[in-house]
Amino acid sequence: MDMLYVFLKGFHNLLRWVVVLGGAYALVLVARGVFTRVAWTGVQDGAARIFTISMHTQLLVGIVLYGLTPLIAAGITAPLTGRLMLIEHATTMILAVVAAQLGTSLARRAKDDRGKYRRAFTWYLVAAVFILWATPWGKSLIPWT
Ligand code: HEM
Repeated sequence: MDMLYVFLKGFHNLLRWVVVLGGAYALVLVARGVFTRVAWTGVQDGAARIFTISMHTQLLVGIVLYGLTPLIAAGITAPLTGRLMLIEHATTMILAVVAAQLGTSLARRAKDDRGKYRRAFTWYLVAAVFILWATPWGKSLIPWT
């Protein structure tokens, strides 16, 4: 159980970089589309897919971590670390996953490229703000260290 926790915590840390870099790439692509006339192609679909799938995987790993982390026990004696981590991080990130998924799904249903870009940009921006705000940047930036 302990090894699973250490592995998943490192994996969650590693996947954070896929989320942050993949999200930044998707956001730049859709922002460019909002402000120019560039067409929506498979490149945008691919970026949207990478961002959305990495978010959902992170959500799953996060939920398992929630059940394994010693921070729950620590929260009793160190309320700040535990509570911040377990309540604010999890709830804000769940909202970020919803925002990212909305951006991708609504863009897919838009009738033209303008609509796709506008919808994806709006919701990816919301997701990005949540992710940047709720990521515990004070913890190790390097997985498994
Ligand atoms: C979707 C975007 C998410 C990102 C980018 C993210 C990022 C991170 C990062 C960077 C850490 C620090 C890992 C370390 O100390 O090495 C962390 C810890 C943690 N995350 Fe997330 N997370 C996300 C979603 C979630 C969700 C949805 C949950 C729960 C439902 C969750 C639960 C946790 C828990 C419990 C920890 C603490 C692990 C521990 O130190 O024991 N995360 N997260």
